[in-house]
Amino acid sequence: MSYNINDAEFKRFSSLIYDIAGITLTDAKKVLLTGRLSKRLTALGFGTYTQYFKYVTDPIHADELQFMVDLLTTNETYFFREPQHFEFLNQIIPPLKQVQNYRVWSAAASVGAEAYTISMILAEKLGENGPWEILGTDISNSVLEQARRGLYRISEAEKIPPQFLKKYCLKGNGEQTGTLLIDKKLRQHVRFEQLNLNVEGMKKTGDFDVIFLRNVLIYFDIPTKQRVVANLIPSLKSGGYLIVGHSESLNGITNVLTTVKPTIYRKP
Ligand SMILES: C[S@@+](CC[C@H](N)C(=O)[O-])C[C@H]1O[C@@H](n2cnc3c(N)ncnc32)[C@H](O)[C@@H]1O
Repeated sequence: MSYNINDAEFKRFSSLIYDIAGITLTDAKKVLLTGRLSKRLTALGFGTYTQYFKYVTDPIHADELQFMVDLLTTNETYFFREPQHFEFLNQIIPPLKQVQNYRVWSAAASVGAEAYTISMILAEKLGENGPWEILGTDISNSVLEQARRGLYRISEAEKIPPQFLKKYCLKGNGEQTGTLLIDKKLRQHVRFEQLNLNVEGMKKTGDFDVIFLRNVLIYFDIPTKQRVVANLIPSLKSGGYLIVGHSESLNGITNVLTTVKPTIYRKP
């Protein structure tokens, strides 16, 4: 069923998602918002967006608010997306004997394709049982559930090089036909946690050699980009790298990091 949304209602929802996640929904995103939320109105038996807004902003319905955030985030991702970044990663990983514990953070991890792609590169370089770990975080709970399972449709994996598919992925049989499971030997190095990057004064999450922050800044305005990047910098080791998506840039966003090449930055 489709419901009409008036300008005032749209404004209320776009302010809400901006305040929580930092995501800017311009008027052009009205169709996106109604397309994604209308099923919740139907499921909960509401006739208008105003009724749903009241419900979702009532503190006793915090679960529904999280559900709404999950619906309004765009989670597109795939394995080996923007492969130059993984070639770069491959070059900067030090030799095994110099590594104590190599740590990489996929900071807008979605369903985990980026984190598991990184895991394949680290396993090749430092060994399947080597001293490395990956943290994947996202604001959306539903994508993290899939990320933790490490289970994908085969069609989502077409960019995984055949030798990695063979070595690190298990093809499903029987009821699981058409699926692919990331092997436990990689999954044991990767952990996923929910984290909103748009929190003022966010706590440090660890000390990372590399942080991937790809294809999420595009949803943010300049003050939000500045806040999010400032939140990440304390968790980056000196000499560590921050990598953004190919259509993104930290120009004017921070002066703490130096540019190595477009989309790749380093903490002095
Ligand atoms: C388009 S996906 C990018 C996935 C992956 N990094 C890639 O490049 O393929 C963007 C992700 O950012 C997440 N996201 C949006 N706002 C966020 C926030 N404030 N904190 C943490 N994650 C957020 C979304 O839930 C979504 O999964």
